[in-house]
This record gives sequence, structure tokens and C-alpha cells, in this order.
Amino acid sequence: MDSDEFAVAGRQMIDYVIHYLENIRDRRVFPTVKPGYLRELIPKDAPEKGETWEAVFGDIERVIMPGITHWHSPRFNAFFPTANSYPAILADILSDAIGCIGFTWAASPSCTELEVVMMDWLAKLLKLPAEFLACEGGKGGGVIQGTASEATVVGCLAAKSRKIKAIKEEDKEHPEITERDILSKLMCYASDQAHSSVERAALLGALNIRLIKSNEDFSMDPKLLEEAIQKDKADGLIPFYVVATLGSTPCCAFDSLVDIGPICQREKVWLHVDAAYAGSAFICPEFRHYMEGIEYADSFNFNPHKWMLVNFDCSAMWIKDSAELVEAFNVDPLYLRHDKQGLVPDYRHWQIPLGRRFRSLKLWFVLRMYGVEGIQGHIRQQVALAKEFEQLLKDDNRFEIVVPVRMGLVCLRLKGSNELSEKLLKRINESGKIYVTPSKLREKYIIRFCVCATRTNSEDIKYSWKVISDFAKEILEENKHDAKKPVAQLATAEE
Ligand SMILES: Cc1ncc(COP(=O)(O)O)c(C=O)c1O
Repeated sequence: MDSDEFAVAGRQMIDYVIHYLENIRDRRVFPTVKPGYLRELIPKDAPEKGETWEAVFGDIERVIMPGITHWHSPRFNAFFPTANSYPAILADILSDAIGCIGFTWAASPSCTELEVVMMDWLAKLLKLPAEFLACEGGKGGGVIQGTASEATVVGCLAAKSRKIKAIKEEDKEHPEITERDILSKLMCYASDQAHSSVERAALLGALNIRLIKSNEDFSMDPKLLEEAIQKDKADGLIPFYVVATLGSTPCCAFDSLVDIGPICQREKVWLHVDAAYAGSAFICPEFRHYMEGIEYADSFNFNPHKWMLVNFDCSAMWIKDSAELVEAFNVDPLYLRHDKQGLVPDYRHWQIPLGRRFRSLKLWFVLRMYGVEGIQGHIRQQVALAKEFEQLLKDDNRFEIVVPVRMGLVCLRLKGSNELSEKLLKRINESGKIYVTPSKLREKYIIRFCVCATRTNSEDIKYSWKVISDFAKEILEENKHDAKKPVAQLATAEE
């Protein structure tokens, strides 16, 4: 493809993208294809001779689209959102064209420098403590990771390295205590509502983790955390890493940093805060009370790629003392060194892979083109739509709202047995009209309805409500005999 052909194909692709996104409502949100469908549609081997753009372009609708779950459809109410905006798409085009791998400052100075400044912009917008900012001249700073899961692993490894160093310094008279001895005793903690990636971080680091029982409101019980830490210490174990969640995956619960933070500080335990979804909302002052106590955190992370109009992947992580990351991950081969080392961050020391894309470009484009007001407006509108949906549920006594709606997530169920809500979810998703996902809170099976797409409007909420309400009517009629039985009596085999 030469530049003239690229110009034509590029315009065609941009037109296709616009048409796709602006008419996405008309597509069935969840595909009907069966596993293995795609292999049947394309040749068994790569072509010997290059094909035309027209042939490739024609296969988007034939091969790819039948198997797409349309995450940006206003009928998509599953999981948490993944962001999408035209400025971010434009930035990614440019990033692909520049195509640099910004692992050190010298590998592409603007790639590193824009990221440092964007992370400061973002930290200031969220009103993070000044210690997290690079521009304050301290040790802090931000880095763009690919995902929140990576941030949790990075925090965990830095915490491990800090704890090992501290023990070795304290125990200089006992050089026989090896790193291996310490490693086997290290303990991580998180709430039983924390994302599965926290447990996975411990698994990847071959570390032990204790999940602390959550309170009535599904936040981590600080008293139980304290008790667990004391008991573990008494048993010779070494607490070193606590992950607090702001906006849990099952129901958007918030752990109390004000209560957890002092425990971590006293026990010299690293506090990582995972605000993957809810963090974007802290750009609005009215939601910042959920992050009260953030000054206790050693590291903080949220995903602008979830709810802040920046396309995947862009997970923002800050750390108070970046030297602790560099120490944890520093290997320094000659071929990666440069003569400005130490004057600017070399982000290869702040992450797991070596290679990294120019992701700060999309943050820059989005922040400039929407402005703070535009992003605040987006968050507020989505929360208002969730509240509108909540009101429809409140007015219908067949439904139970399981936890208060705080942001864009509504957790609902049909009153009565779990089986009823399981059937309801299955019927909704089989219809392909909207797409929702399940979760379980204590013994209750719930349906998570999240306002996800940027194009979702009040009409979409009414449409979704009608779909749910109509299927609920069908199911309740078919199951009249057990509609009134309490949950416990009808516990499913899984429970
Ligand atoms: C609270 C929380 N933490 C972590 C994650 C994992 O996010 P990622 O896919 O960026 O690793 C999620 C995903 O929804 C989440 O809700």
C-alpha cells in the first residue's frame, strides 16, 4: 500500500468507523456465533500473494462483525464501561504512525515527557496529594500502565522489595535470614469483594493472600483487617501489602481509606488503592469524599480507559516514591543506557514489560478537547442515567435494588428466589436486546446493570427497562409457585 492508496483506504476506514459508531444501536449487542465460527470463514493459510484493500475491507462485515460484542452500544450494560471517543481514536492513529517504543527517555523523549506531564495534570484534576506529583520536585510521579491488574502486580512487587529491604536492614545481625525465608512469610490482604486480579497478583508473585470479610455495605471490615494482621504477625508471618478498593466490581462498594490507612501506616504495610472504575468520577468534586484518606496510600490506580473517554489501554498509576519501583525492577543492561539517565524517568523501570506505546497522546487529546467540564459532564450524565434507571426499579415492587446506586452501576434482582433472577438474566441476554452480567452478593444472585456507552441516553434507559420488565413478567408468570419463597430456601446448587 503506498501513500495514495493509504489516503483512500484511510478515508474509507474513518467513514466506516463513523458509520459503525453512529449506528451501533441498530446492531444486536451480543453475537449469535458459535465457538470456532471464524475459522470456517477464512482460508486455512496466509495468502501467498498480497490481496487488495477492497478484499480486506470487505471482510470486516463478513468475518469480524458477526463475532463482535458491541461494547459501545447503548444496549451494552455489562461489566464496567470501556471508554471510546473520537479524540482518543485520532491520538491512537498518530501513536501507531509514530510507532515508537518509549522504554527510556532517549528512546523517544516526547513519549516520556508528555506522560510525566499528563500524569501530573490528571493527579491535579483528581486532587491527589502533592506527594504523588512529579512536578512537586519530590519522589512521586505517575505512569501509564496497560491495565489495573498490572498496576496491582507492580504495587505488590514494589511492596515486596521494600519489605525485604527493611527486614534485612533491621536484622543485620542475622545474615542467615535469606530472602527465600522472608518471601514464604509475606502476606497480602484485600477485601473479599476485591477484583480477582488482586488474588492473581499474589498468585503471580507466589505470595500468600488473605481476603478480609466485607461489612454489610460490602466494604472491607477494618477491624477484621487489623485482627488478621495481628494474628498473622503472632504466627510469624509478615504483612506487607494491602489493596483497598474504591468502587468494587460486584457492586461499586468503597473501602474506607480513613480506617484502613492508619492500620497500614502503623504496621508499615504498603497500601495500594484500586479505583479502576470509580476513579474517573473523582474528577467531579461531589464524588471525592469516597477517596478520603488517600494520603495514606503508597500507590493509587484508576483506568481512564474505563470511564474517562480515553480508549483502551490507559491505566493511570501513581506512586509516592518512584525510587521504590525503580529499585524493585531495575536491571540495567548497557544497550538500554543513555547519557541523560537519572534526570528524567525511564519508564522501563516502572512497569513489567520493556516496550510501551505512546499512550499519553490520547490522554492529552481527550483532556484538551473535552476539557475538565466536558469530562465532568460525561460522568454526571452517566450517573444521572443510572439514577433514572434506579427510579424505574423503585417504582416496581417486583424488583429489589440490592445496594444503593452510587455511580453508574445498578445492582438488581427479582424479589424471591435466586433462580428467578438467573432465569431473567439468561432470557435478557439470549434475546440480544441488551447485555447484562451477573454477580453474587453474599447468598444473593444479582444482575449488574451498568450505564456504559457514551451514546446512552434516556430513551435507551427506558428501552432497557422495558426489555427487563417484559421478561420479568414472563418469568414470574411461568414461576408463580416459587415467586414468594425466600432466597435461602431456594439457594441454588452452586451456593
Ligand atoms: C475494581 C477493579 N479492579 C481491577 C479491574 C481489572 O481491570 P483491568 O482490566 O484494567 O486489569 C477491574 C475490572 O473491571 C475492576 O473493576
